[in-house]
Amino acid sequence: VSSGYSVAVVGATGAVGGEFLRLFEERGFPVDSLRLLASERSVGKKLPYKGRELTVEEATPESFGGVDFAFFSAGASRSKLLVPEALKAGAYVIDNSSAFRMDPDVALVVPEVNGNLINPERKLYAVPNCTAIILLVAVNPLRKLGTIERLIVSTYQSASGGGAAMMRELEGQTKAALDVSSGHERNTAFPPYAFNLFSHNTPINEHGYNDEEWKVIGETRKILSMPALRVNVTCVRVPVLRAHSESVTVEFAGPAPTDAEIRAALQGAPGVTIVDDRINNRFPTPADASGQGDVLVGRIRQDVSNDHAVSMFIAGDQLLKGAALNAVQIAERIVEVCRTSKSGHALTATS
Ligand SMILES: NC(=O)c1ccc[n+]([C@@H]2O[C@H](COP(=O)([O-])OP(=O)(O)OC[C@H]3O[C@@H](n4cnc5c(N)ncnc54)[C@H](OP(=O)(O)O)[C@@H]3O)[C@@H](O)[C@H]2O)c1
Repeated sequence: VSSGYSVAVVGATGAVGGEFLRLFEERGFPVDSLRLLASERSVGKKLPYKGRELTVEEATPESFGGVDFAFFSAGASRSKLLVPEALKAGAYVIDNSSAFRMDPDVALVVPEVNGNLINPERKLYAVPNCTAIILLVAVNPLRKLGTIERLIVSTYQSASGGGAAMMRELEGQTKAALDVSSGHERNTAFPPYAFNLFSHNTPINEHGYNDEEWKVIGETRKILSMPALRVNVTCVRVPVLRAHSESVTVEFAGPAPTDAEIRAALQGAPGVTIVDDRINNRFPTPADASGQGDVLVGRIRQDVSNDHAVSMFIAGDQLLKGAALNAVQIAERIVEVCRTSKSGHALTATS
């Protein structure tokens, strides 16, 4: 007897895709059948799921017949092409790419922040940029302490943000830096990565901001429904394999809340773990954030240069909360609202 949904993962062989399989299992997402989709390069590849080996198929417009939930993590161009097909087939679509994020008709959702946008009638959900999600999980709880006027953010972004290939590149370059005989040939598309850092490797616009920074600014405003919020972001890649860190200054319209008030607002906030041990100098690190669903928040302090502002340092696993976990949480909420929906919505697990 089956008791779940037909699920498809587009980009199943990627850095984000792999996390979906673990999360479905870990969180008990009600999967009845699972279709793993990727490019034609991966056809026939086997991926482990619940002690079985599932075979990867090519993602095509015909891949979505009978699918209830389609999770997309295969880049914006794939999403633009295949998301409409999945919607036509009647699936709920949760898209990790940037393809539809800024479309005014598409909900851009971090469940802890604007989960109220999830309802059974809405079939397409965009998962925000990973840096924006991690930022907003930490910043949103502070909104009850006063009107936020401005955010100033500097990021320390890991290789996994650039996908599986960038993780392999950092590993290869690090080995080659320590042992030239390793034979690794450096990818020259971005500056040397081992024992170095560089401005985020996305194109720069006419304002001098790179794509990643521009996404964080636009998406933050959309998610918070604060179109005029002042946001300044500098995005940098650091030689960390997994999990992004961010230095964040939050400026309020009036005098800043105290450190104790900030801690109280963050304590118990969904998706937040405070790591702020001044005595032992223990604060959020990407190593501690890796593999965790929560965003770690610490270095909570007054901005001594501005009595309206507070500063924090945060770290979050961008493959999880910044991508796959956020997507699965959206799907879990859809399941929940469909089950409780008075209109007895059509999405019902076969049982
Ligand atoms: N990495 C992150 O932290 C992060 C965070 C938020 C959002 N995202 C978004 O998630 C998506 C995937 O990122 P990733 O980091 O997982 O990248 P990745 O490790 O490079 O994986 C890319 C995935 O897309 C598949 N793919 C590529 N071309 C395809 C095609 N023509 N048809 C079907 N599948 C294709 C790949 O399949 P093959 O293995 O067959 O090539 C692979 O499964 C991107 O849209 C990215 O912007 C990533």
